[in-house]
Amino acid sequence: MSFTTSIGLSRGQMVVAIAGATGNLGSSICPIFLTTPFKVFFSRVVVITRNADTERAVYLASLGAEVHRVPAGFQNGLSSKEALRTALRSVDVLINVLGHTAESERFAGELVDAALDSDVAVYFPSEFGVDHHLNDFSTYDHGDWVYKREYDDRCRNLVSQRRKNMKIIALYVGLFMEQAILSLVEQPISVTPVGFDNKHKIYTSVGSPTQNFTLTSKEDIGRALIAISIRAMSPSEDIPDHLRIAGDTVSFEDVRDTVKRHTGVDVDLRSEDLGHYRSQLKERWERGDPQRPSAYIRAIMGESKLNFSESNDNELINPDQRIWKWKTLDEYVRDHKDDILKAER
Ligand SMILES: NC(=O)c1ccc[n+]([C@@H]2O[C@H](COP(=O)([O-])OP(=O)(O)OC[C@H]3O[C@@H](n4cnc5c(N)ncnc54)[C@H](OP(=O)(O)O)[C@@H]3O)[C@@H](O)[C@H]2O)c1
Repeated sequence: MSFTTSIGLSRGQMVVAIAGATGNLGSSICPIFLTTPFKVFFSRVVVITRNADTERAVYLASLGAEVHRVPAGFQNGLSSKEALRTALRSVDVLINVLGHTAESERFAGELVDAALDSDVAVYFPSEFGVDHHLNDFSTYDHGDWVYKREYDDRCRNLVSQRRKNMKIIALYVGLFMEQAILSLVEQPISVTPVGFDNKHKIYTSVGSPTQNFTLTSKEDIGRALIAISIRAMSPSEDIPDHLRIAGDTVSFEDVRDTVKRHTGVDVDLRSEDLGHYRSQLKERWERGDPQRPSAYIRAIMGESKLNFSESNDNELINPDQRIWKWKTLDEYVRDHKDDILKAER
């Protein structure tokens, strides 16, 4: 079935629920489901949050979301399990964009159980980053990815143990475009943890600065989730269990040249030796001083494992960019050149 046919058939028929919709990624993707041109595909958009009174939750409700408060654990006579079952009633597609903490791990466990009880058809676990199956940190891999792999396995095992048909789709997107080069989450952060120091005009790669890495804008992740959901809900479609998208793919050199083109600023490019960097990561892990995921991501970028340009599912999801045009880094830098210039002062 062509994508256009799938789109025609799914108009207004799907119910989607988003857990974590008020968060960093969630607050960018959820409005895409609730506004033109995509809102016509959904009869309901359910938001699952611990607090329905936050500014973000109230904003999503004002766009038409059905906001469900699901407490962490048990509060005021309401348990998270019961509340989840109510929130997921008649839901076709469940998108998990929870951040990762010990407490959210427990909640993510309840989420998949409730999704199976409610006969959800398509479930996206909270991935949305590197394809960590390519990682080769062996004993010192970061705990976030160890957890993500275990959670993915657990969800798939539950589907077969409980003889359900829920389709689980893991979506890998590279870096969020809005956070990699100049972080604009809450307020501009001029030095990003993956090596872009706009304040001092120094970009430092681990490994070669010509190595490419993928960035995808958060709104494009929302559009991709919608396009994948439409296809996955069609009985004749066979969507892979793991998908990669690549909004844009660039190198440190490309970023330097793009910033120069739009701001006139000269950035100094430096690089760290990849082998030495990896042995430092390992040493720190062994000393009981594990680094943040971003420290690992710098090595992954240097190994070209975050380069999804040759191996991605863009054409399956958005053939010939007919549904939307992927945002490029050039457009992002052009639109935020003032923030980059401000960061330099
Ligand atoms: N590729 C990249 O560059 C990149 C960057 C950052 C994150 N990521 C990935 O994107 C995904 C989403 O991350 P994020 O940064 O958007 O997450 P986040 O903002 O930290 O959290 C999202 C939401 O999760 C809910 N939540 C948090 N703790 C919870 C708990 N204990 N129980 C229940 N709900 C809880 C909160 O919603 P309520 O308060 O409304 O309940 C929060 O707004 C993750 O898988 C992360 O690894 C990728």
